Amino acid sequence: MKQTKEIYILGIGSYLPRRILTNAYFESRMDTTDEWIVSRTGIRERHIADDDEYTSDMATEAAKIALEDAKMSAQEIDCILVCSVTFDMAFPATACIVQKKLGHSASCPCMDIEAGCSGLIYSFEVAAGLLQLGHYKNILVIASDKLTSITDWNDRATCVLFGDGSSAFVLSTEKNGAKALLVDTLLSAEGKDAEHLLQPAGGSAMPASHETVDKRLHFLHMNGREVFKCAVRGMIAVLEKILQRNQIQPSAIRYFIPHQANLRIIESIADSVSMAMDRFIVVLQNTGNTSAGSSGIALDHAYRGGKLAKDDLLAFVTFGGGMTCASAIIRWIA
Ligand SMILES: CC(C)(COP(=O)(O)OP(=O)(O)OC[C@H]1O[C@@H](n2cnc3c(N)ncnc32)[C@H](O)[C@@H]1OP(=O)(O)O)[C@@H](O)C(=O)NCCC(=O)NCCS
Repeated sequence: MKQTKEIYILGIGSYLPRRILTNAYFESRMDTTDEWIVSRTGIRERHIADDDEYTSDMATEAAKIALEDAKMSAQEIDCILVCSVTFDMAFPATACIVQKKLGHSASCPCMDIEAGCSGLIYSFEVAAGLLQLGHYKNILVIASDKLTSITDWNDRATCVLFGDGSSAFVLSTEKNGAKALLVDTLLSAEGKDAEHLLQPAGGSAMPASHETVDKRLHFLHMNGREVFKCAVRGMIAVLEKILQRNQIQPSAIRYFIPHQANLRIIESIADSVSMAMDRFIVVLQNTGNTSAGSSGIALDHAYRGGKLAKDDLLAFVTFGGGMTCASAIIRWIA
């Protein structure tokens, strides 16, 4: 969505749980090897939330850091969006739980958004649209997932891929102290491919029962090869389209910030735009796939690692369950 009013990013934060599982953990538990995991995915370790650390807790931690970065108190936020595929529970909205955990006492709208691992960019577009309406000044956008809560620890094809984590952004129409300008967002989805990545049970289609638990249907199920193909095809399409409509050559993008699922997927995107891998921010070797929060975590690491300079153009590109794809271009202005 092209912005008619300028929308700024005032603060950025991310959070990873303290506990780390390396590939050696899986080697000791199942028929897999560090070599298989690294060569197929690039992942070496991932952070795992404790049993009593929920999606809302990780969301709250990232939000606090983003608010501090924006030099803002929670009370100055007038809308909270949380995107995830692992909300604390079906309802109430995790955004309402985060509002309470932040000690945000003023009444403000809080809502959840589900767009798989593209949730952050979907939420940017929703937040930008709300800001354009002029009803709000500062919107807190949080992407948080505890994917390990729906990971089947007996399924070697999926359990080695995922980790937990969150990222958060303060979006505003105020320019004062801004880190970045939101230039454009582009969203897409291919519902015909939704069957390749899903959590079959626990919703209204297949309510929880002893049978669904016995059949392990509350865990994430994935057809990895199909997801891989959909991801590459979809990410290239949204990236080409957003670059074209903004008349930006790939070489003008300082860093691409892809969803952190698989190094080979990211390499395919780099090939498609003929850019070297050093133009891609990659953190998945230490995080695994953290779902909705992943590209925000990557940006935050680049920001805090001192990689970003004034006027850098950055391009997010994501894919996830749905199958959703999304891209956003931001200009770093700090
Ligand atoms: C999951 C993924 C890494 C698997 O890699 P792949 O090259 O497609 O591997 P395949 O699924 O074809 O499996 C190849 C073999 O490895 C085996 N295998 C699967 N997981 C394994 C593991 N952890 N260790 C060792 N072997 C494993 C399979 O059983 C299969 O064995 P077989 O040939 O005897 O049947 C890859 O498909 C992928 O990354 N897909 C995208 C997933 C994704 O990003 N999901 C998140 C979306 S947000």
